[in-house]
Amino acid sequence: MPVDTWFPLAIYYEDLPDASQHRQALIEAVLALEKAGYEPRNFPEMAWTGDLHGVAQIHLDPRFAWVVAQVETHTRQYLEALGLDLDQVDLYIQRAWPVVSRHQQEVGSHCHNTAHISAVYYVAVPESGSDEAGCLAFFDDVRQNEVSPGLGSENTDIIAQWNYLNQDQALYLPTEGRLIVFPSKQRHGVTLNHTEGLRISLSFDIVLTAAPGQSAGSYEFLTPPPSQWKRFGES
Ligand SMILES: [Fe+2]
Repeated sequence: MPVDTWFPLAIYYEDLPDASQHRQALIEAVLALEKAGYEPRNFPEMAWTGDLHGVAQIHLDPRFAWVVAQVETHTRQYLEALGLDLDQVDLYIQRAWPVVSRHQQEVGSHCHNTAHISAVYYVAVPESGSDEAGCLAFFDDVRQNEVSPGLGSENTDIIAQWNYLNQDQALYLPTEGRLIVFPSKQRHGVTLNHTEGLRISLSFDIVLTAAPGQSAGSYEFLTPPPSQWKRFGES
């Protein structure tokens, strides 16, 4: 009895071989930025995220140059795997920020609505490779196989067996040195850090535009190159 599956979500990951060499310097840079950022605005049960505390430009900070280069390389590989012609597009890191998760902190579910591609890099993870420090959870909002809406919900719990055809989330164990690349529109969150240690990660938001040249004027669904924009009030 064959059952075909179609339209997969593509999540890319790579364990970076040089991670341990950069670990300590990245930890120190993140903690210094956290200290210098705004007064904490996060709820106590939520991880500290740089984008809410004035620390969202680590892509321009030389202390993060190694990881930024890795993000660029692997994002290109991800998009090549998706079949894109990278000669016709430009890629930009729009913003990038650290996340520091302490004991019993999590990151609520969200999408990165201003970007196209997002990446996360795990600098430091207590009990790396287990679920103790909090998993990255991707949520399926499309539910293609949920033949009657709400079948697996708390109110209509008639799923006899959860399997790959009805799963509504995919979990990635936090793993030190791992880079994950995914579509920004995919809703996700991070589960609780049950350890006493700090889980430190870096988030990147990437935007894709038409490359200058012929493609910039002929593709309806690509943002034109920012170099061709006009800011109000400027001539
Ligand atoms: Fe996120």
